[in-house]
Amino acid sequence: MLETTPAPEPDGTTEGIWSLNTRRTDAGDVEVAGVRVLDIAREFGTPTYVLDEADIRGRARAWKTAMDDAFADLAGAEVYYAGKAFLSKAVARWMAEEGLNIDAASEGELRTALAAGVPGARIGLHGNNKSDAEIELALDEGIAHIVIDSLYEVDQVARLAAARGKRAPVYVRLTTGVHAGGHDFIQTAHEDQKFGLSVTTGAAQAAIEEITRRESLDFLGLHSHIGSQILSTDGFGKAAKVVLSVRQWAAEQGIDIPEVDFGGGYGVRYTSDDDVPPAPSDFAAILREAVREHCQETGLPAPRISIEPGRSIVAPAMMTLYEVGAIKDVQTDTGRRRYVSVDGGMSDNLRPALYDAQYTAAIVSRVANGEIVRSRVVGKHCESGDIVVHGVGLPSGVESGDLLAVPVTGAYGRSMGSNYNMLARPGVVAVHDGKAYEIVRRETIADQLALDVG
Ligand code: LLP
Repeated sequence: MLETTPAPEPDGTTEGIWSLNTRRTDAGDVEVAGVRVLDIAREFGTPTYVLDEADIRGRARAWKTAMDDAFADLAGAEVYYAGKAFLSKAVARWMAEEGLNIDAASEGELRTALAAGVPGARIGLHGNNKSDAEIELALDEGIAHIVIDSLYEVDQVARLAAARGKRAPVYVRLTTGVHAGGHDFIQTAHEDQKFGLSVTTGAAQAAIEEITRRESLDFLGLHSHIGSQILSTDGFGKAAKVVLSVRQWAAEQGIDIPEVDFGGGYGVRYTSDDDVPPAPSDFAAILREAVREHCQETGLPAPRISIEPGRSIVAPAMMTLYEVGAIKDVQTDTGRRRYVSVDGGMSDNLRPALYDAQYTAAIVSRVANGEIVRSRVVGKHCESGDIVVHGVGLPSGVESGDLLAVPVTGAYGRSMGSNYNMLARPGVVAVHDGKAYEIVRRETIADQLALDVG
């Protein structure tokens, strides 16, 4: 694939790929929310993740508004921001300020949300192998719900809640059999994988019956998450029907289910080759329709609905800023290819190596002239799979020292980052109204050495 550089233009045209406040200035460099990337690189170094605060807030608000509007005349809705995509105290605080809750999947995510001042009652806990400590922390903080993923966890959560003299608010994660999303590794609702309890085999129903027998469990809801980077509404409609059929089955057993969570997975555009994803209001409409039909057909009262978008809120709001180093031309079977090396790589974005994920890139420190050359942006790690952008058309005038930005790196970039080759992970710089400030500081080699106790 050869993507020619869809650089942000002065009129704000970004083809829906660059964050909302990204512009090319008259001088030819790029600014985000009024801050020139040249200044960001000078002050904070490279690589650096640059987060457009107004953009991430706007995307959070769009989900909240879409869900509130869709479910206003039913039992209302909640949006849980999936912290696994990227979480920091600032982001957790912004999400809470925009009316969202937080979906945490580990003690670290839970403690980050709590440290940001998000109350436990606005946090949900996930995971297929939660530790006792994670469950105890959740219970002590009065968490909104713990999503039970196995029969093992029915026992575990019941035991820990009983020991504290509490009733644990729980959901059950269903495997709906609906396939959707990108790479195999991020599809989650088919049968042969580790998450959830199968509706088809009756494992989910058995877990529900077991939960209702436990004094220390307060059974609140059903949960489903069908995959990630999903660019169509179809799968959500199908999964919703399966989930709601379980609610109907439960009602027939005399079990009331007041809440239903349809998970995350809403896709984004990484390059101009990708389809434009449906809007939050399109996804909300599909879910609403399924809930409305279910209520009409069964006569049951509407459940309170929640969803857990991660990627669609943070991915497009962030880009990674790198400095170009070595440039090399290589003769391939299909012609010449230019390898443009940058000062990061698979340690700050594993997605190209892990999922063959496609990104684009642009030179953002100036207008680099010359004909468009088939280029591959690579990192500085000791692996040939250390690819940042598989294929992009970059001007022949690109030189070492130029700043190169890769847009849409906000989700699962920093959060899946590593210290491979003992690189220090980049910081995250937020920009807003002409100001740039670090929300996660850059790691240093000293940080790594401090862990090495000899
Ligand atoms: N809820 C649950 C239960 C999840 O497992 C996930 C993601 C989400 C919500 C948020 O999904 P999102 O809206 O961000 O698609 N590392 C992969 C994605 C893994 C997603 C894991 N679960 C990637 O980089 O594409």
